[in-house]
Amino acid sequence: MIAVRAPATSANLGSGFDTFGVALDRPADVVRVERAAETTIEVTGLGSQYIPEDPAQNTAGVVADALDAPAHIRIDKGVRPSSGLGSSAASAAGAAVALDALYDRNLGDEELVRVAAEGEAAVSGDAHADNVGPAILGGFTIVRDDGIEHVNASLSLVACLPDFVVSTSDAREVVPESASMDDVVDTVGSAATLTLGMCRNDPALVGRGLEERVVTPARARLVDGYDAVRDAALDAGATGVTVSGAGPAVLAVCLPTAQRRVAGALVEAFDDAGVDATAYRTGIGGGASILRGTP
Ligand code: HSE
Repeated sequence: MIAVRAPATSANLGSGFDTFGVALDRPADVVRVERAAETTIEVTGLGSQYIPEDPAQNTAGVVADALDAPAHIRIDKGVRPSSGLGSSAASAAGAAVALDALYDRNLGDEELVRVAAEGEAAVSGDAHADNVGPAILGGFTIVRDDGIEHVNASLSLVACLPDFVVSTSDAREVVPESASMDDVVDTVGSAATLTLGMCRNDPALVGRGLEERVVTPARARLVDGYDAVRDAALDAGATGVTVSGAGPAVLAVCLPTAQRRVAGALVEAFDDAGVDATAYRTGIGGGASILRGTP
């Protein structure tokens, strides 16, 4: 039996829509696999009642099929579905890494990302590797059609998950079809600033680089209380705030010394908007990894 811990991820980071992503230290899924004649899936944990156990409809099952690696797969969800924290990507990445080890396939990272993205595509209808990329490689990733770049950045983050769901398809519906040249120029500036910040582990640069005025404002309207929540986090010392992935989670960048204050401010501001929320004090973490010892 192989057990893999597969991290939550945050895609987009404001200026890198469908391109940037980071792996988070926490939360994470745990995916356990055992060889079997045919694939079966059991899901427990956060939001498991909403996740299909039919292998054809579950990202991990599609990955097992793509790898021709039948297994009994148990997924313990630590990443709630429809959270904006890469829940289905965590399961797909965990399954890819676990089945690769179970069947001694020795696939390279890019191949694992490709297989996990196939799992994502089958279930979500769209292959965005901006969550499975960091879920497998860890760190900060830049996903493009022709490959994936990766930096092992280190930053303190808070991911705050309100107690409601936003479906990725609804969140994609609101994305504007075009942007003005001014907005394109602004986005390029932010994306470059963010990338430099990741290379330097600089929370001020990364915070500035989260700013983006095309996709984020449209997405923010789907998150109850977003403006007040963002302002509260900035007042508490966050260097930048954005919608995590397709939402509704909100991601804040901060100095380690401000992390507790920022987490409290986010939860309190959601509470003021009448929404329960959970704050994860986290950071940029590693990719999916095999758990040694007693899994
Ligand atoms: N980049 C994707 C989006 C991530 O924001 O829609 C969610 O699949």
